[in-house]
Amino acid sequence: MGTGTAPDIPSAHAVTLKVVRTIAELRAELGPGRRRSSEPSVGLVPTMGAFHEGHLSLMRRARAACDVVVVSLFVNPSQFNDASDLAAYPRDEARDRALAAALGIDYLFVPAPEAIYPPGFATTVVVDGVTAGLETAHRGPEHFRGVATVVAKLLNIVAPDVVYFGQKDAQQAATVKRMVRDLDMPVRVDVCPTVRGADGLALSSRNVLLGAEERERAPALHRALRAVADRLLAGERDPERAVAAGQAELWAAGLVAEYLLVVDPATMVPLQRVDGEALVVVAARLGAVRLIDNLPVMPAPVVAGVH
Ligand code: PAJ
Repeated sequence: MGTGTAPDIPSAHAVTLKVVRTIAELRAELGPGRRRSSEPSVGLVPTMGAFHEGHLSLMRRARAACDVVVVSLFVNPSQFNDASDLAAYPRDEARDRALAAALGIDYLFVPAPEAIYPPGFATTVVVDGVTAGLETAHRGPEHFRGVATVVAKLLNIVAPDVVYFGQKDAQQAATVKRMVRDLDMPVRVDVCPTVRGADGLALSSRNVLLGAEERERAPALHRALRAVADRLLAGERDPERAVAAGQAELWAAGLVAEYLLVVDPATMVPLQRVDGEALVVVAARLGAVRLIDNLPVMPAPVVAGVH
């Protein structure tokens, strides 16, 4: 070693050597231990419980697509930046169990905190870039570190073919997609549409914490998103001018947004000009409850010569 002379090459091994240059090919080559097409497909729906139609829509989608469906229920302490928020988080395992059973879910995985975070736990998954703004500005960097870490663990534990997330938490879904891509996790991320109430309010486990008067004002978030999206769809290219229309909706309901922005849906970076796919995102506090929502928009491309 280190002398510059070539080591002995056992020829019996050399003839079987195959050089593999792509990850996909390597995985296909390592067939044993990998899932065969005849084996059942596994879907995972990660949740923190207190199920509503949003959660159930993910479960139905998984049930329709996969042979085996695992729903995890774990109120992940590491993603809460505020102890009172964690303490107030709604929990009703018996009801959740009945709802999952009614949908024909195969497994409800309800781990104890010590099982997920064993003594000496010291590893954290940090996704940069996509997590930089929006929620992080208000919840701190621990939030998406907690989310990425627990989702990485759940993916390792369950080893699903497909994992389901809601568009409702767009920055979370984008963070998971980034992590899966960057760490070559062998799973498909399926992002499902936001489920809303008749008044437009996105369903959220936190909605039950709203007082009657706050609940009445809450749909203004969706009206604000719609107002911004309508401007963009009508041809407005300047995000600030489109956002002004949304701010007016919030102010009319006596709400002040923590943020109301038009961002790139993959990177979550605010757009300077809207020329294609965009995401309108909003967060606002109603009393003690913080709500977030978003609306994807696909304005028609600018045609040369048409203004
Ligand atoms: P939780 O808030 O329980 O949400 C579980 C899943 O349901 C997430 O993917 C979320 O985006 C989705 N969801 C919530 N409201 C929805 C709605 N109105 N329409 C469609 N989907 C909706 O998000 C988490 O838990 C946690 O961060 C978790 C990923 C489980 C990691 O701890």
